[in-house]
Amino acid sequence: MLASRCSLRPTASRPASGVARMPVGRSRLNVVCASNAKFFVGGNWKCNGSVGNVRKLVDELNAESIPAGVDVVCAPPYIYIDYVMQHLDRDKYQLAAQNCWIGGNGAYTGEVSAEQLQDFGVPWVILGHSERRALCNESNEVVAKKTAHALAAGLGVIACIGETLEQRQSGSVFKVLDAQMQALVDEVKDWSKVVVAYEPVWAIGTGVVATPEQAQEVHAYLRKFLTARLGSSVASTLRIIYGGSVNDANCKELSLQEDIDGFLVGGASLKGSSFATICNAAGKKAKI
Ligand code: PGA
Repeated sequence: MLASRCSLRPTASRPASGVARMPVGRSRLNVVCASNAKFFVGGNWKCNGSVGNVRKLVDELNAESIPAGVDVVCAPPYIYIDYVMQHLDRDKYQLAAQNCWIGGNGAYTGEVSAEQLQDFGVPWVILGHSERRALCNESNEVVAKKTAHALAAGLGVIACIGETLEQRQSGSVFKVLDAQMQALVDEVKDWSKVVVAYEPVWAIGTGVVATPEQAQEVHAYLRKFLTARLGSSVASTLRIIYGGSVNDANCKELSLQEDIDGFLVGGASLKGSSFATICNAAGKKAKI
């Protein structure tokens, strides 16, 4: 059993100037329970690519060296999963889908079930990405039910949460995160195959990355939330990864934060060398 390391320490007090430095406005003390889990990097290719681009990206990724002690997962669009599965070096990279259906197989036109992913050999699925929450109206409850179903089907789940700019500016970050997390807590029985991705919506695809202090503040908060609900053993082994404009230039500083256990990467996952740099930012957090 991995031990947790919890301590009380003051929050870094940087001056608030502009969006990316705006404090979330709660207590000045964070309970920090650093994770002992293996570093995890996901590449979310979103609805990008063509046969030619995907082939090129797979070749680039295969040429990169990835530390053995990091879990790296690539999530191509559904239509390319078969090609990627056959050609990507799976000693280095695992595969994820970007979404799945809320239940099992049946008359659900256009959907793919967790059971089908499991059957096809795709071990992970991203659920609750903010683009799906916003564009496809996926509620906290739907995301939580999908997560529980995918876990029951044997998949690992990268469950995404995060606040919008408006929610941050109105000081409701923790309220929003509480509701997103509580829905998951209500449905998920076994957390051993869950990775939580904190992705502030204002940072996704905008080039406005959260500061390391902002990300750490939220990650420590989430770990505290999980410790209170699920106990320190679950909270210290659960990976909490950060997503939102992570790139090869900002990943190192973010990775040094105590409660950041990896990244979910969009744009920068479409270039093999950038993605590999991000995977290598694990440094001492890589565990074999
Ligand atoms: P981004 O996307 O890295 O392009 O900001 C992250 C994500 O949406 O997972």
